[in-house]
Amino acid sequence: MKHIYEQGTDNTAPVLLLLHGTGGTERDLLGIAKHIDEGASVLSVRGNVLENGMPRFFKRLAEGVFDIEDLKFRTEELNNFIDQAAEQYSFDRSKVVAIGYSNGANIAASLMFHYKDALAGAILHHPMVPLRGMKLPDLSDKQIFIAAGENDPICAPQETEELNELLEGAGASIELLWERYGHQLSRSEIEAAKAWYEKTYKS
Ligand code: MLT
Repeated sequence: MKHIYEQGTDNTAPVLLLLHGTGGTERDLLGIAKHIDEGASVLSVRGNVLENGMPRFFKRLAEGVFDIEDLKFRTEELNNFIDQAAEQYSFDRSKVVAIGYSNGANIAASLMFHYKDALAGAILHHPMVPLRGMKLPDLSDKQIFIAAGENDPICAPQETEELNELLEGAGASIELLWERYGHQLSRSEIEAAKAWYEKTYKS
């Protein structure tokens, strides 16, 4: 997969996996990753699907209606890619923490739905429920931060609550931040994610 890998200076830090939103690229979240943890290694990936020229991590049939077969295929493809990257760049596969926005948050959630050890944790900005009706793996050692908008036209508050319940039901520890905005990635939610990250991984 097209990607950027930046070796960090702090070997004890998590490895940050960056997953952009629809129409984004592997460059979008680099500044946020640096802000969250300057010393961490970063693996930033570009989604392999194109929708009218816009990169995504999996196909959709309409806004909010996902192509589930493709989602499953792309989730496995991304998980395999992280495995390969860990070998190629010699980072600790068990320390990958995703930072995803929108479509990128959805594939990060899908990684956790499908594989117990794909991610050590995740910061999910405006995620949706990636798919329904599956038994989640035991996520009891996973830490997740979710930022959501009360007025998000793409992800309704009930869907955020549903995702929260599914992940908590699988044992994950969740911190959920509500803001009054819509689907955009706000400065204040990035600051809240940074505070959560420091509390979770730096103390
Ligand atoms: C999606 O995965 O389709 C979304 O979360 C919405 C978007 O990316 O625009």
